[in-house]
Amino acid sequence: MNSADIRQKFFDFFRSKGHEIVNSAPMVVKNDPTLMFTNAGMNQFKDIFLGNSPVKFARIANTQKCLRVSGKHNDLEEVGHDTYHHTMFEMLGNWSFGDYFKKEAIEWAWEFLTEDLKIDKSRLYVTIFEGDESELLEKDEESYERWRFQLNNDTDRIVLGNKKDNFWEMGETGPCGPCSEIHIDLRSDDERKKTDGKLLVNKGHPQVIEIWNLVFIQFNRKADGKLVYLSNKHVDTGMGFERLCMVMQHKKSNYDTDLFQPIIHEISKLSGKEYGDSDRTDIAMRVVADHLRAVSFATADGQLPSNAKAGYVIRRILRRAVRYNYTYLKCTEPAIYKLVSVLAEVMGDTFPEIRKQKELIEKVIMEEEHSFLKTLETGIKLLDQIIAGSKDKNQHVISGKVAFELYDTYGFPLDLTELILKEHNLSVNSDEFKKEMQQQKDRSKNAALTETSDWVSVHDEGGDSEEFIGYDFTEAEIKIARYRKVKMKEKEIYHLVFNITPFYAESGGQVGDKGFIANEKEKIRILDTIKENNLIIHISDKLPENPEASFKAVVNSSLRNETAYNHTSTHLLHYALRKVLGTHVEQKGSLVGPDYLRFDFSHFQKVTDEQLTEIEKIVNQKIRENIPADIRLMPFDEAKKTGAMALFGEKYGDTVRVVRFGDSVEFCGGTHVKATGEIGFFKIVSESAIAAGVRRIEAISGQKFEDYFDRTEKTLKEVKEILGNPQDVTKALQNLLNEKAALTKQVENYKHEKLLEVKDQLLKKVNKQNGINVIAEKIDLDSSDSIRDLAFQLKGQVENLYLVLGASNNGKPLLTIMISDNLTQEKKLNAGHIIR
Ligand code: SER
Repeated sequence: MNSADIRQKFFDFFRSKGHEIVNSAPMVVKNDPTLMFTNAGMNQFKDIFLGNSPVKFARIANTQKCLRVSGKHNDLEEVGHDTYHHTMFEMLGNWSFGDYFKKEAIEWAWEFLTEDLKIDKSRLYVTIFEGDESELLEKDEESYERWRFQLNNDTDRIVLGNKKDNFWEMGETGPCGPCSEIHIDLRSDDERKKTDGKLLVNKGHPQVIEIWNLVFIQFNRKADGKLVYLSNKHVDTGMGFERLCMVMQHKKSNYDTDLFQPIIHEISKLSGKEYGDSDRTDIAMRVVADHLRAVSFATADGQLPSNAKAGYVIRRILRRAVRYNYTYLKCTEPAIYKLVSVLAEVMGDTFPEIRKQKELIEKVIMEEEHSFLKTLETGIKLLDQIIAGSKDKNQHVISGKVAFELYDTYGFPLDLTELILKEHNLSVNSDEFKKEMQQQKDRSKNAALTETSDWVSVHDEGGDSEEFIGYDFTEAEIKIARYRKVKMKEKEIYHLVFNITPFYAESGGQVGDKGFIANEKEKIRILDTIKENNLIIHISDKLPENPEASFKAVVNSSLRNETAYNHTSTHLLHYALRKVLGTHVEQKGSLVGPDYLRFDFSHFQKVTDEQLTEIEKIVNQKIRENIPADIRLMPFDEAKKTGAMALFGEKYGDTVRVVRFGDSVEFCGGTHVKATGEIGFFKIVSESAIAAGVRRIEAISGQKFEDYFDRTEKTLKEVKEILGNPQDVTKALQNLLNEKAALTKQVENYKHEKLLEVKDQLLKKVNKQNGINVIAEKIDLDSSDSIRDLAFQLKGQVENLYLVLGASNNGKPLLTIMISDNLTQEKKLNAGHIIR
C-alpha cells in the first residue's frame, strides 16, 4: 500500500467514527512562548484542552507536520544514525475534546490497525502507565482493563511503563496525562522465537518500535510543577506516519518507504554513491534526506534559516546535512537544493505549499549551502594548521578550547573534529570541550532568564471570556480577569488579562497597542499587548493596588492611527508589488508599527529604481482614490474564492476576516483606516536583500511622511543657500565638484614639482665626512608624507647616506632621519633611537 493510500485510509476510518478531518497547522509556531515548532499534533489544540478556546468539533483527526529539534522533544542527534527517528515527520492523530475517552480511543486504534490495515496482532504490544508516587498518580487501571478486554485476556502483551515513557507532557508546562502506546515487533520469526518481543518494548531496538501513542489528557502542568485537573477529559493520539508506512510496506527502515526512496535515489545520483555501500554513507544519505524535509517545510512556512532563535535552529539542521554531505558523500559543491524537486513530487499532493514555493526553497538552500561550504573549508584549513603545529610540538592532545572554537565559529561538531584528528593520530581534550560548552549554555541561559509565575484569578470566568472589541473602540470599562508576575533579569513586569479589551495584541506583523488603565485611585501604564495562543496579555510595570476594581482602558489612539496608516499601506504595497514585479511575490514577513512599515517578500532580483517609483505611484494613486475599507468575516472557503491573499505558515480558523481596499484583498486580523485617503502619502525609504530570494522594503506614510518631507526640503534649502541660491542646484553642485577636482589635480602637480626642486637643492649640499654622505638641512616642505617620500628618494640615490631633515608644519617641528642600510648595520646606528 503506498503512503498516500495509508494516509487516506486513516482519514476515512476516523471520518466514519464521526471525526472532522482538518488541515495540518503550520510547523512553525507563532504566539506561543513555550514552543518554536509544532512538536505534536495536539499543539494546535492546546487552548481547547486548557479551556481557553471553545470546542467547534468534539472529534477531529488529521495529519500534522511536526519538528522535534528543540526543547522537551528533541531527536536531532539520533536522526540518520538510526532508521526510525526524524526531525520533521507526519503525525496522524485523532482527538476527542471532552467527548469519548479511553474505551473508544483504545477500541478504535486496535480496530484500525488490526482490521483496516490487517496488521498481525501477534506482533503488537501495548504499554500502560504504572503510576508514580512522587506525583501521587495511580496506575492506569482503566486502560489496563480496556486492553485486557481488547486482547482477549492476553495480558502478556501489556507492558507497564513509568512516568518517562507513559506520562506524556507537551513541554515544561501545559496539558498532559497518562498514555498508552502501541508497539510493533518487526523481527523475523526466528528472532521472535529466540527473544520475547515484550522484553524489547521501549528498549531502543530498531525493529521493536512504538507506532501509536494514545494520550489521555486530564491535567495541566503549572509553572510551579504542580498538576491540576482540567475541567474535562480529552483524548490526544499520535501515530508516526513514516513508521506506519514502513510496517505497511514490509520494510525494515522508514527510509526504505516510498516517502524517502525517491529522495535517496536522487542523493545517490548526485553523489555517485549507492545506498547500502557503507554504514557511513548510508547515515549521511539518511541525514540529508531527513533534513531536506525539515528545512523545506520550515522555509515554506516562512521560517528561513537565520542567526537567531527558530531561524538558527533551521540553519543548524541544514548545516548538519551539508556537513554529512561534504564529509561522507564528498559533495563539495551545493547539492542539497537539487533535491527539492523530488521532495515536491513526493509530498506536494498532501502539502501543496512545497510545490508552490519550490523556487524559493531551492534558492534559500543553495545560498546557505554555498556560504557554509566556504566556512567548512576555512575551518578545515584552520584545523590543518593546528594539526601541523601539534606535530611540531610533539603534542598528541588538542585543547578543548580550540575544538570549541571550531564548533562555535565554524559549525564543526566535536565528532567531526575528532574524526579528522584521528586520521593524524591526535585526539581532543573532550572534558575541556564540554566545560566550554557548558559555560556557553550558562551564559545564554542567564541572558534569557525569565521566570513566569502561575496565573492568579481575579474575575476569572473561564478561559475564553476575553473579547477583543478594539476594531470598534479604543476605550472600554474593563475588569482584570487574571494576572501573573514575570521576573526578568533586571525587572519585574505583570501580565494582565481583562474580561474585554480594546487593546490590539501584537500579531500578523502589527505591533501591540500601548495606553493605560485607570480609575479614580490609580493609573497603570500598558507598555505593550501580546498574544499567547488565544489569550490577549497586557504588559504593565505595576500591578494595580486593587486588582479587583473596575478600570477604564484607554488605547493610545494616535499611535494606533499611525499604525493603521502603515498597515493599510502594507496591503496596498503588496498589491502594487504583485502588479509591477509579478504574482510570484509572496509575503515573507512584515512589521507594521506607528513609525514605519517593513515588508519582506519573495523576489529574485534587486527591485530597480524605476520599479520602486512605479510601485510608489500605484500606492499613492490608491490613496488619492480614497477607497473605503470593506472588512468582513466569512467562512474560510468562501473567502478563498474572493481571491484574498492568505499567508503560508499562518493558522486560519473556519471563519476568517477579509480586508478589502478595492483590488487589494487579504486575510487579515489587523486594524486599518476607514478609507485610504487618511494615509496621506506613501514613500519607500529602502529596498534591500535579507536572504536568498527574499527582499525587504521599508516605507513610511501619514505624518511620518510629512516629517520626512520637511526634513528633506529643509536640507535642500540649506544646500541652496550655501551655493548662493542658484537656479539649478544640481548643476551648481556639479560645477563645484568639477572645479574641486581640477584644483586638486593642480595642487598635486605643484607638490610634485616642489619636491623635485627641494631634492635638487639637497643633492648639491651633500657633505662628505669620513666616507659618509651627510645631508642636514631645514627644508621648505610641510607635509610628513612628502618628506617621507623625499627621504626615500634620496636614500635610493645617495650611497652611505646620513640624512637629517627639519621642517615646520604650522609651527610644529617635523624631524626626519634616514640612514643607509649598510651604515645601520656596520655602525649599529638606529634612526629611531637617534631621533628620540
Ligand atoms: N501528543 C502525543 C505525542 O506526541 C500523542 O499525539 O506522542
